[in-house]
Amino acid sequence: MMKMFGALFVTFVCATLMGCGSHEHKYVIGISQCSLTDWRYQLKDELVLASYFNEDVEIRMAFADDDDVQQSRQIDSLLNTGLDLLIVSPNQVKGLSGSMKRAQDMKVPVILYDRKMNDVEFAAFMGADNYAIGNMMGEFAAAQLKGKGNIAEIGGLKGSSPAKERHQGFADAIKKYPDLKIVGYAEGDWKEESGAKAMEEILKYYDGPIDLVFGDNDRMALGARKVLSSRGQLDGQKNEVLYLGVDALPIPDGGMENVRDGLLTASGIYPICGDELIDLALKILRGEPYEKNNLLETSIVTKENANVLLLQYREVQKRAGYIAKMHNLVGKIKDESETRATLSIAMCLFTGVVFVFLILIIHANRVKDCLNEELRRKNDELIRKNEELDAEKARVEQQRDQLEEQRDQLLDATTQTLAENQPAEPEKSAEIPQKNEFMEKFLSCVDKKLDSPTLSVEDISQEMCVSRVQLYRKVKSLAQKSPVEIIRERRLQRASELLQDPSLSISEVAYRVGFSAPSYFTKCYKEFFGKNPRS
Ligand code: FRU
Repeated sequence: MMKMFGALFVTFVCATLMGCGSHEHKYVIGISQCSLTDWRYQLKDELVLASYFNEDVEIRMAFADDDDVQQSRQIDSLLNTGLDLLIVSPNQVKGLSGSMKRAQDMKVPVILYDRKMNDVEFAAFMGADNYAIGNMMGEFAAAQLKGKGNIAEIGGLKGSSPAKERHQGFADAIKKYPDLKIVGYAEGDWKEESGAKAMEEILKYYDGPIDLVFGDNDRMALGARKVLSSRGQLDGQKNEVLYLGVDALPIPDGGMENVRDGLLTASGIYPICGDELIDLALKILRGEPYEKNNLLETSIVTKENANVLLLQYREVQKRAGYIAKMHNLVGKIKDESETRATLSIAMCLFTGVVFVFLILIIHANRVKDCLNEELRRKNDELIRKNEELDAEKARVEQQRDQLEEQRDQLLDATTQTLAENQPAEPEKSAEIPQKNEFMEKFLSCVDKKLDSPTLSVEDISQEMCVSRVQLYRKVKSLAQKSPVEIIRERRLQRASELLQDPSLSISEVAYRVGFSAPSYFTKCYKEFFGKNPRS
């Protein structure tokens, strides 16, 4: 039975532990971003939001500071953590080929996002059509300037695909208008200060009028604006310069607000779409069909629509906030239910242990009851045997008492017979002491050996140098009692003295006065004193 419960318990524990250990598989997606900018942080927020809807996704992000070497190192570190898929926004079209090769060797599929790379293997591309954006901004510039005017262009980071494509798209649009001129072109590195620097570069070789500035992104357009407006104040320039940019971030102080506030005339939306990026990654990871080239839609933000778009964006943000809150709440509930589940498992384990212990206790009790029963039986048997032995002992003691009595009687009887049949010997007055003296000597001999159960008339007669018969005759004539009777009386008198000592038991007293059987002692005592010892 115990074996069966043991097996049941082990099965129970194993099942419980297996239940505890089952965790769903997560896809680990690494994301390497080339810059540390608001646009990238916006992407991060969107990815986090998207991951709330895809529990099987874990995102690991790294941001390089517009630096190829740093980005390459970050990609290697991400790959070392064990990725299922890598998303890269490369700083430039060249510079990351080593890391891309590593990803390929490790069989980690790569999505190029927002920016492109030359000569690398990748699973898919997702981003806006930067040529189309540049072209759209060129057409917008032409429309604003009514086909006539001087334009300065601040290009993005040299070597990056959006810079090249936006410039190309813009130039192709302007080309169509003969009275539109790009009077100056200089490159920045996407940052505001670099836009200011590029504008100063242009002004070094061009000091004519400028009607419009196109920055490959909003921040560089704002940098250029700062330079031009301070120069305009100095020159007292009348005409207002138009500033166009790209990105139109709807965040506080972003491009969209800049357009609403009139700092920028317009901005081309550079879409982020973090949710679509995660969907594409999951399609690749799950082996589902997907598009290799995924172009994101774009549009233009002007003073007319900036406010509406911002309002819409704020609504979207509010909902994103609710979603985040809900996600946290669900997380808390999940944690609680997991804690509860863990507690239930612990309770089950505890109950299991208690159950097994109960079985063990019940079993042990049964064994104990059986043993007790066995002991009780053996005890009863022993008691019965003891009783039998006691009865046997009493019978033997009785026989011994009778024998002792018979021995005394026999001794007296034989000595008496001998005394009657033997002729009286002449008394040797020198040897046999006179009356009282004889009795005193006899009694002193008796008293000396009173405590010996082997004390016999024979011994005393030898000690007194008379024969047993002579001793009998003399004692009988002097005391009217046989020596045996006198010995017994002396013993009983001594016993009556000893019985005064309460620390001595009747048996001890009996042995001390030479009786070998306490029961015979009691019998003699009663006969002699007429009462029981100690009554
Ligand atoms: C952000 C950014 C944007 C620009 C994009 C081009 O890092 O510089 O301003 O539109 O990258 O990839």
